[in-house]
Amino acid sequence: MIIAKAEPRGVFDVEQIRTDFPILGRPVRGRPLVYLDSTASAQKPQSVIDAESRIYATEYANIHRGLYYLSERATERYEAARRTVQGFLNAKHSHEVIFTRNTTESINLVAATYGRRLLQPGDEIVITGLEHHSNIVPWQLLREERGVVIKVAPVNDDGDVPLDAITGLFTARTKLVAVAHISNVLGTILPVAEIIQAAHAAGARVLIDGAQAVMHLPVDVQALDADFYAFSGHKLYGPTGVGVLYGKEELLNAMPPYQGGGDMIRTVTFEKSSWAPLPQKFEAGTPAIAQVPALAAAIDYVTALGLDRIARHENDLLAYATEQLTAVPGLRVIGTAPHKAAVISFSLDCAHPHDIAQVLDNAGVAIRAGHHCAQPLMERFGVPATARASFGLYNNRADVDALVAAVRKVQELFGQ
Ligand code: ALA
Repeated sequence: MIIAKAEPRGVFDVEQIRTDFPILGRPVRGRPLVYLDSTASAQKPQSVIDAESRIYATEYANIHRGLYYLSERATERYEAARRTVQGFLNAKHSHEVIFTRNTTESINLVAATYGRRLLQPGDEIVITGLEHHSNIVPWQLLREERGVVIKVAPVNDDGDVPLDAITGLFTARTKLVAVAHISNVLGTILPVAEIIQAAHAAGARVLIDGAQAVMHLPVDVQALDADFYAFSGHKLYGPTGVGVLYGKEELLNAMPPYQGGGDMIRTVTFEKSSWAPLPQKFEAGTPAIAQVPALAAAIDYVTALGLDRIARHENDLLAYATEQLTAVPGLRVIGTAPHKAAVISFSLDCAHPHDIAQVLDNAGVAIRAGHHCAQPLMERFGVPATARASFGLYNNRADVDALVAAVRKVQELFGQ
């Protein structure tokens, strides 16, 4: 197993860690790359790149099908990765881990199966005002089809959603609460343990969109008592094209299949088909054979570094970057909740976020600008878009300094 070059004395040696990520060594526009868009997608350590290419080079065949050596090896790798995810989330059973394409597909799976089969017209789904489109639109599609009601807990001026803003919406018809663990725009960390406890007391199930959480903090689905938990591989320093839906066994068993096809059936006749047991019931078709073991390599990488240490390092960067950026005149940080991950959305009074991103790009600084797939949240803060710098385990204070210098350059160019 290839693991991160973790520091022997428990120090988080970011300069050493950066050497694990080959892309960080390449220049961009003639400057050293300053990558501050890990919230959109994180860069990959060599161990993840190697894990994926090793499958193609030495162990590739279709899984669950072939009665020959390579297929058996590939199947073993794939199922071992499922156990790695099980351990990562502390799921009770490995068959509670369903591989999907990404968080979006995981949430759509729940809407299309649990939602269609187990929710009735008039049943209520509670979300919050800071959700990504992928935790809004699937419920709207369900509303059109099943007549469910969507209720939205408001976001306060800090970018927080207080617990009582969510629980205050609960009624006897509340059947599902679907919330982000961490906002992709604001970095706000929602109190998901308390939300789950309150939702269960009200008789509702809970889906957590963990797309922005699993790389920033440890997640234990049993301790949380989450009913569903979704995340993507590519934001966790893993490959694109693979995501995870964790679901409690009893719920996954009660849900109909999501897609029909190969691998998800027990028997097929033209009159009737029956389904394979979990997890195959939800994994129709040839899956991400090479990417799933590479996701396990990404999990091994962050686990070797330690999510607690990663969080401490990122929190230090967040504090430093917030202090530096708020010293820039005319800069507004959007999202000042007390519990935040290392994501900073901001605007400048002199320039549109797209102009900010362009000037920063010329300095080799990659940030995202736009609505970040959260248009209702932009409306809440009265902005069309924000500039967003987001930090990963490989960022350092020099990255923050480059960001701040480039933002000051924007001011020179666009300000008075
Ligand atoms: N959801 C990703 C982001 O926030 C793409 O950038």
